[in-house]
Amino acid sequence: MLGVSTRLAPFGTTIFSEMTALALKHGAVNLAQGFPDFDGPEFARVSLADAVAQGHNQYGPMPGAPVLRRAIAADFAARAGVQTDPDREITVTCGCTEAIAAVMLGLINPGDEVVLFEPFYDSYRAAVAMAGGVARFVALRPPRSDGPGAFEFDEAELRAAFTPRTKMILVNTPHNPTGKVFTRAELQLIAELCVHHGVVAVADEVYEHLVFEPNLPHLHLASFEGMRKRTITLSSLGKTFSYTGWKIGWAIAPEGLTAGIRAAHQFLTFSPAHPMQHAAAALIPAGAPAIAELVALLRSNREFLAGVLREIGLRVFMPAGTYFIMADHSGLDRKNPKLAGLTAGDDRAFCRWLTEHVGVAAIPPSVFYDRPELGHHLARFAFVKKRATLEESARRLRSSFGIAG
Ligand SMILES: Cc1ncc(COP(=O)(O)O)c(C=O)c1O
Repeated sequence: MLGVSTRLAPFGTTIFSEMTALALKHGAVNLAQGFPDFDGPEFARVSLADAVAQGHNQYGPMPGAPVLRRAIAADFAARAGVQTDPDREITVTCGCTEAIAAVMLGLINPGDEVVLFEPFYDSYRAAVAMAGGVARFVALRPPRSDGPGAFEFDEAELRAAFTPRTKMILVNTPHNPTGKVFTRAELQLIAELCVHHGVVAVADEVYEHLVFEPNLPHLHLASFEGMRKRTITLSSLGKTFSYTGWKIGWAIAPEGLTAGIRAAHQFLTFSPAHPMQHAAAALIPAGAPAIAELVALLRSNREFLAGVLREIGLRVFMPAGTYFIMADHSGLDRKNPKLAGLTAGDDRAFCRWLTEHVGVAAIPPSVFYDRPELGHHLARFAFVKKRATLEESARRLRSSFGIAG
């Protein structure tokens, strides 16, 4: 009998499926997987119905529907100040997840090294492995101060991660799961290292619109000096417009890099769902009010959830972007009889306990590390939820931790 291939066996089932199944089993409020419990703008659903009615129901073109590629190029030019040719430099993919796989499979050869920051979005490491590449890791460590989004990397560790075999670095900003928004100085350093070592940068910008601190705006790596020709910018519709199930993503890259991405994409999915692409083309240019509304909700949810997590005794690392809060559970009061039986310093045990006994599911972030011990004291909570959902989580947390609410 065949089993899971040796390339993929080490990765098991993604933690998102595992925690979501556990949350369903225990009737827990799911603050684990990062998806909204509400829909995006209604006009987009009308556009989708129109696209189906108008007959966009057969295979779309392999690089993506031209109308969508033009919309993506116009939007990127307006926001990043980077002009791109939608025919030669933009590929529409089945979510950003497919774009990540296509980048690795289309451009990385066995033995090539790819620098990843840890913690990382879990598909990065699997995609590098599927391509036969070798991942090298640079840690983002919790900040000493409590400023928003301030997870930090060590410059010497980053410099040392670049070797003669390094072909690519993947930078996710705003960053899941830490909520870090990379600063201008950090991106400048990354850009200089890429130029110096002739390395390609992949900028995963799926949370590009979801930023909360005026002094920490999202910056596009492709707009840094020398980076236009060596940056692949990835993004998607899912996080920005609360349509994670539509799975429309894209890769913006110079022609030579796009050739590699498309070489893989044509055999992975060929093209994502065609009517969704037409609806996305209508949504992107008209989406600003919906984005503003979402960011306002997230900003207020961030404050609310951070407050509740602090009340129960967690140290909160306030995110500057994304819709996740990382919190440190190592300082919990073990004398609290309500916490009897909970092992200290084990994020998996903590998140299972929260799901099963409190009825609130979170993600144990050690699975996002090459060195899991760096994440054992942490838990990740998603706050892209209706306020009523967060209030129900607050009620359960306060009552389980013995706090009058
Ligand atoms: C950093 C990051 N990149 C990519 C993705 C996947 O995006 P999509 O849903 O468009 O495939 C996610 C989803 O959680 C993510 O957090």
